[in-house]
Amino acid sequence: MSVELYTDNTVCCKFVDFYEEFYSDKSGLTFLDIGSGKGPFSKYIAGKGNKVVAVDINNELPCSKKIMSIRADIFKIDFVPNSFDCVIDNCCLQVFDLDQVVKFMQKIRGWIKPGGRFYAKMAAKSPYYARVKSRLTTEDDIKKMVKGFDGQYSIWTSPLGTGEVANHYIVSMVKCEG
Ligand SMILES: C[S@@+](CC[C@H](N)C(=O)[O-])C[C@H]1O[C@@H](n2cnc3c(N)ncnc32)[C@H](O)[C@@H]1O
Repeated sequence: MSVELYTDNTVCCKFVDFYEEFYSDKSGLTFLDIGSGKGPFSKYIAGKGNKVVAVDINNELPCSKKIMSIRADIFKIDFVPNSFDCVIDNCCLQVFDLDQVVKFMQKIRGWIKPGGRFYAKMAAKSPYYARVKSRLTTEDDIKKMVKGFDGQYSIWTSPLGTGEVANHYIVSMVKCEG
């Protein structure tokens, strides 16, 4: 599936809020950045003293001391269980079929350490996404995706650099035991 979604190659302020809430006093953690693109989130996280595994089907991000950039289809790669303190997805999983993502979320859950977190920004119904092809996430979809996690999700409306308005669900979850 080809992905042509708007990205301004910056870190969304909602992710900064998430990072500040849970990680501002920490470093030396390991993150997975799903669909990392040019790497704005990976660079931000690495800049805070963490390691990042950045996976994108188009490899646009060079490796560095703290970033391992991997060119791969995220659905075809695997990691040993409990590899990551946190897994993030900024607008990659939103283009795939719900059933595929629901199943994949349990794989992600296995990759996350006990007590680790999952952050995602996913497209929701709005003018931009009426024009740009994406699956439009609903509240019911998120409930199906986050089985085995606890946390919060809410709609966030933002202006894009294109002048359009987009709605996204911001998903902030912690892995439950069991
Ligand atoms: C909208 S861009 C977001 C990029 C980055 N997260 C950001 O916010 O700047 C979506 C990214 O997902 C990547 N992608 C699409 N399908 C993928 C797949 N199956 N596996 C890994 N990456 C994929 C695309 O190459 C693209 O870089």
